[in-house]
Amino acid sequence: MRSSLVSSRLPQGFLWGAATSSHQVEGSNIKNDWYIWEKQAKIPSAGQACRHYDMYCADFALAKSLSHNAHRFSIEWSRVHLGRGRWDNSAIEHYRKVLGCLREKGLEPVVTLWHFTLPGWLFRQKGWESPEASGCFLEYVEKMVIEFKDYVRYWVVMNEPLIYVYQSYLAGKWPPGRKSLRLAFRVSKNLAKTYIKSYKIIRSIYSGREVFAGPAKNFIDFCPCSFNNFGQNSLAAFLRDRVFNVYFIDYLVKRNALDFIGVNYYRRDFIRAGLFDLAGKECRKEHHKLARNSLGWFIYPQGLEKILLRLKKYRRPVIITENGTTGNDDKDYSVFLEEHIRSVFSALSKGVDIRGYFWWSLLDNYEWDKGFKAKFGLAGITRNFKRIVKPFAYKYKDIICLNSAGRMSPQ
Ligand code: FCB
Repeated sequence: MRSSLVSSRLPQGFLWGAATSSHQVEGSNIKNDWYIWEKQAKIPSAGQACRHYDMYCADFALAKSLSHNAHRFSIEWSRVHLGRGRWDNSAIEHYRKVLGCLREKGLEPVVTLWHFTLPGWLFRQKGWESPEASGCFLEYVEKMVIEFKDYVRYWVVMNEPLIYVYQSYLAGKWPPGRKSLRLAFRVSKNLAKTYIKSYKIIRSIYSGREVFAGPAKNFIDFCPCSFNNFGQNSLAAFLRDRVFNVYFIDYLVKRNALDFIGVNYYRRDFIRAGLFDLAGKECRKEHHKLARNSLGWFIYPQGLEKILLRLKKYRRPVIITENGTTGNDDKDYSVFLEEHIRSVFSALSKGVDIRGYFWWSLLDNYEWDKGFKAKFGLAGITRNFKRIVKPFAYKYKDIICLNSAGRMSPQ
């Protein structure tokens, strides 16, 4: 293994693991908006997904066998919160067991409170479009944090709020399938304000005890398409970068509402603008030389380092909360992994305070509107729900072991 896959700059207790989200792995989630949407939009249904709701313990044993010391997962809001002031205690107990199992195995839990799915009852009341949604979410956050504070030090308050707004209110591909700039603004504002209030609730519940709360923010390396059109592509790429990569984090930092920045990074987008189209469109044409994953996303490991270096000015710890690919063969995965880890190590050597790295995902899972055809997992799933570890997962294990020698696990 090349020496750049070993870093002398990793802090003690660096978190190594994989990430999942409830609807994508648990199975039998019938109380959320996606369950309704999968039927309505006639897209593949998550169905039993990976049956992780029942198999979580074996899955955590698998993560442990791959030398992970941490695991990121999300609580399914719709399972625990049945309406204003109404809770499903058996679901709450389930997540207590999940957390107990992680702790018992020495895996540090990194818990996401909201990963795209809404309770069906709230969805029927217009979800994040409604001013009521904020109060519902805050009630849920408070309850979860009080219940689980003794198990959890890392809370991801929201996963990729801007991706949600884009897919649900601009592209119309995710529930509620709207295409409205007005609603997109309204929902973004509602999410940002609710995030800040949630953050304050978490800090007040821990009152001085150690806790890290932050967002998992998706970052994209926007690059102007090389096709020359008098600088319009550059302007469009610049605007996208400001709106998508910079604005939200700036907003939270100014309000002192994050203890870490969670980075979800997958790709570079080439942007091509038209005469009256300031924001431009993604150019997916063949003239770009970069390799792509099986969803057509351009792979650009240097983009991760660029983003990490740009975040240095905020003086907050950074956790790579998601990074991964869906490939055609094992080489695609191992090359992606190695090159992105090199980027992380290079950023560390330049002084970025990086505290953890999570591969997306532990398992091949339900990839939203794409169904099951995208396979991001360290392990595949057979028809009988058997887990088959992929060879590159052992490469990840080697990297973890090489970089953990002499270091304590975070417990
Ligand atoms: C991220 C999402 C995650 C998964 C990966 C591939 O944007 O957070 O749920 O879909 O992309």
